[in-house]
Amino acid sequence: MESARVAGFGTSVFSEMSRLAVQHQAVNLGQGFPDFDGPKEIAQAAIDAITSGANQYAVGQGNPVLRTAIAAHSQRFYGQQVDPMTEVGVTSGATEAIFAAVQGLTNPGDEVVLFEPFYDSYLASVQMAQAVPRFVRLRAPDAAHSTWWFDDAELVAAFSSRTKLVIVNTPHNPTGKIFTRAELERIGELTRKHDAVLLSDEVYEHLVFDGGTHLRPATLPGFRDFTLTVSSGGKTFSYTGWKIGWHLGRKELVSAVQKAHQWITFCAAAPFQVAIAKGLELPDSYFTGFVESYTQKRDFLSGALTKAGFEVLPCAGTYFLMARTDRHRKAGEDDVAFCKRLLLDHGVASIPPSVFYSKEHAPDVHGMVRFAFCKTDAVLSAAAERLARL
Ligand SMILES: Cc1ncc(COP(=O)(O)O)c(C=O)c1O
Repeated sequence: MESARVAGFGTSVFSEMSRLAVQHQAVNLGQGFPDFDGPKEIAQAAIDAITSGANQYAVGQGNPVLRTAIAAHSQRFYGQQVDPMTEVGVTSGATEAIFAAVQGLTNPGDEVVLFEPFYDSYLASVQMAQAVPRFVRLRAPDAAHSTWWFDDAELVAAFSSRTKLVIVNTPHNPTGKIFTRAELERIGELTRKHDAVLLSDEVYEHLVFDGGTHLRPATLPGFRDFTLTVSSGGKTFSYTGWKIGWHLGRKELVSAVQKAHQWITFCAAAPFQVAIAKGLELPDSYFTGFVESYTQKRDFLSGALTKAGFEVLPCAGTYFLMARTDRHRKAGEDDVAFCKRLLLDHGVASIPPSVFYSKEHAPDVHGMVRFAFCKTDAVLSAAAERLARL
């Protein structure tokens, strides 16, 4: 009965893990959303927007106040100049921006290059647009590589005359990898050569650790013309449920996304747009404090996992840790079975990273697990106690 577009979509492992976590009162380090609220002044701005009447449809492309704040934020943090009237659009979260971009920029049969592991909505968006995914595998750190890496020949082989779109996510969920300038330049070179568009998903742009700064691909020389930047307020301001996302780039790119967006949701939630505009204007101290607090959380959880016998892989950004499970994994157990056992027997919910892979490459990470550390210190401590008993 169901269409080919949705065939194969099951209940996501995220929902199942969350359901099991509630049922078994597990400490939930699974799904990637904070278990605390963001700044009070942003919540107050949303309340004020509601009580002062910002309750009807917003301008489809986004409230000009928010678009202006997005442009100012891009200038302030990356020296990137965009015209808020033609080069910025607002959507219901980054997820809608990605979905609309795939709809607006590809025809059935066109190819989209995805790096595995990928945020799972990418593949679903590609499938629903009847485009064809071409995968490039990020390989786990090894003796020769201190971070996740990809093979250049595999990257080249993923491109063809049908390539229309390339999706990069930096900082990267779930690996915590930050793409280097050289990697981005290589990806950009191939994208340009094939006359494709680079969609850069930067929802973790303000979660870069250890003194690093976020490198926005669109600001690299020559990238402006073919790069569409996508981000959202969910992660940066800890209000993921508000689903305020945006995209910026050359006006032809933004207009293609907006053409799809007008028939998907038409506009994002009006009062939350006003509030997120306020968030983007917060002083630098907010953004530095945000990174500091997440650095502590990362280090705490990383320490607890290491003590518990996991091999924690380096995490330069995002709020996720990937760890190898070799010491605890039973013979023949894949990551899904491991995560279920960790939840049912030890009371800690996590995510099996194979959900971020195509079926054929899922075995790459059968010996790994992803933990989210966007949780209160009390929850992280409770997780540490349970992990210590492993
Ligand atoms: C890489 C990545 N992109 C996009 C999103 C979704 O963003 P939003 O909640 O703004 O739709 C997420 C959420 O987990 C993500 O990890």
